Amino acid sequence: MRSFGEVWRSTIFQKWVMAITGILLVLFLVGHLSGNLLIFLGPDAMNGYAVGLRELFHGAALWIVRLGLIVIFVLHVRAGIVLSQRNRKAKGVRNQKFEARSSTVASRSMIYTGLLLLFYVVYHLAHFTWGAAHSEFYHYTDALGRHDVYRMVIESFRQPTIVATYVLAMAVTGLHLNHAIASAFQTLGVSHPRYTPLIKTAGPAVSILLVLGFLSVPLAIAFGVVGG
Ligand code: HEM
Repeated sequence: MRSFGEVWRSTIFQKWVMAITGILLVLFLVGHLSGNLLIFLGPDAMNGYAVGLRELFHGAALWIVRLGLIVIFVLHVRAGIVLSQRNRKAKGVRNQKFEARSSTVASRSMIYTGLLLLFYVVYHLAHFTWGAAHSEFYHYTDALGRHDVYRMVIESFRQPTIVATYVLAMAVTGLHLNHAIASAFQTLGVSHPRYTPLIKTAGPAVSILLVLGFLSVPLAIAFGVVGG
């Protein structure tokens, strides 16, 4: 029988780690987007939701989700780096034998769009969660003494450079998700003649919906539709 260490290091196991953590991260994005869209309902909905999240189960719920997210994220990034290094080595061997390369441009670019997203997440946390970047927009409180997340987001996206940064980051998110979703289903062996067309359209459809949803917030603010 193979030891746990051997199974853990195997390429197929790392592909499963990649697929399952990836699906969990997409679910996080769906939840995150639903929260972001509250901006269209006004300051009370957004700030009330932010406080509600922080105070759920005396603050424990948010920290459990955060710890879970950190573990999932680290496993995902680590598996991505390991798999991309193995791919590159295998490609070298195949090239020496003059064989055709099987990977596509989309699959080879995953490591680059993934690493760009890693930079984005650090910047994004520094911006909205830690208040370390653009801190001038972080310290507002509303009439009820709550952290004014609504105003922080509105004031931020009145700055064209911040809007441009987020638009670029969402384009990279879309490219990454487009390939990732189909690839995750393939790894998990979800294939059936009847569902193949559905699975093939699921990747682009989910990524386009998520990207458009996320973009709606900075663009609505930049064009004065919200908070104008
Ligand atoms: C235009 C797009 C986005 C906007 C406007 C946005 C907005 C926000 C805001 C306002 C917060 C802080 C919420 C609070 O303090 O209560 C936040 C937190 C966060 N965002 Fe985003 N977000 C966007 C896209 C993304 C994307 C694409 C990702 C992941 C790749 C992401 C990951 C996170 C994470 C991990 C947190 C921290 C959650 C926590 O407090 O633990 N966001 N976002």
